[in-house]
Amino acid sequence: SSMEEQQVDPFSLVADELSLIGKRLREMVVSVEAPKLASAAGYFFEIGVEGKRFRPTILLLMASALNVSVLPGSQPDTVTNFSNELRTRQQRIAEITEMIHVASLLHDDVLDDAETRRGVQSLNFSMGNKLSVLAGDFLLSRACVTLSSLNNLEVISLISEVIEHLVTGETMQMSSTLEQRCDMDHYMRKTYYKTASLIANSCRTIAILAGQTSEAEILAYNYGKHLGLAYQLIDDVLDFTGTSTSLGKGSLSDIRHGIITAPILFAIEEYPELQKVINRGFNDPRDVDLSLEYLGKSLGIQRAIELATEHANLAASAINSLPQSGDDKVGISRRALVDLTHIIITRTN
Ligand code: FPP
Ligand code: MG
Ligand code: MG
Repeated sequence: SSMEEQQVDPFSLVADELSLIGKRLREMVVSVEAPKLASAAGYFFEIGVEGKRFRPTILLLMASALNVSVLPGSQPDTVTNFSNELRTRQQRIAEITEMIHVASLLHDDVLDDAETRRGVQSLNFSMGNKLSVLAGDFLLSRACVTLSSLNNLEVISLISEVIEHLVTGETMQMSSTLEQRCDMDHYMRKTYYKTASLIANSCRTIAILAGQTSEAEILAYNYGKHLGLAYQLIDDVLDFTGTSTSLGKGSLSDIRHGIITAPILFAIEEYPELQKVINRGFNDPRDVDLSLEYLGKSLGIQRAIELATEHANLAASAINSLPQSGDDKVGISRRALVDLTHIIITRTN
């Protein structure tokens, strides 16, 4: 069979670059004046607690998937120098994205009073809320400095807007009205801001740095957007179906905090009386059990997985709509991006 048809693990395709990026992240959080800040900010960059590294993997694969004739008719040396420099700039995007992501997790764990993350104590639990907030701010600042070094206003603007989106999504979730809480459209918009915007816009900046056409730019954005939506839908399913051990963080945490996600929204469609339970606000823990009972006899989990699958398929079709390329590495990377759409749906953590 041709190279393109072989199944290759997407993560192993970029394993060397992932460890390079991990090393750079650990080096990037030094602080001479406040070493405590550095160790707090570097907490989730330590080996063993780096997480699944979905985002940097996607971005590096996207860089290879879009690696098609940007400098027609140039000398081979010029092309090589250009692509090395381009690749380094695209790696910076992966680092920036990971720093913003971890910053948002540090702040999120403060907001959610989380005790565990990635199978270890959360930073707020081990070093306190105050240092966690400051460490998140510090990471955001380091991300901004790296971002500005790329010297591309469009890229700076898109990534800056993502930070607003994260805050918007988190605030929408925290301060929704009774009506918004049970509105699927509100849930999907919140999910875009909270999760999908970061990977969507980062994918877009990978295309911008490569000097791609605006069509390819939009396809890269759409891949990230639909993959991000699918990712969060599955996250919300796993909050019900996973265990603390499998997830490395607490389960049933959404509903206990009164956060209504897709599985429950679908369950309400089947059992409208569930709405009344939800509107009571979960001050009584028995309402959590009652809601779980409704969820169990409904198709809520199944329909949330189906919706995630629809978005995963839209992500795959964005990749398949990219202009044809005969290059083997481009083909393998695109195949890996499509494989990731399946991996995200079937993941258990
Ligand atoms: C995890 O959600 C949280 C996010 C995806 C975004 C959090 C964003 C903020 C806290 C706003 C501040 C942003 C920055 C950039 C500092 P979750 O609680 O549903 O997931 P979990 O189960 O992993 O905790
Ligand atoms: Mg949260
Ligand atoms: Mg949380």
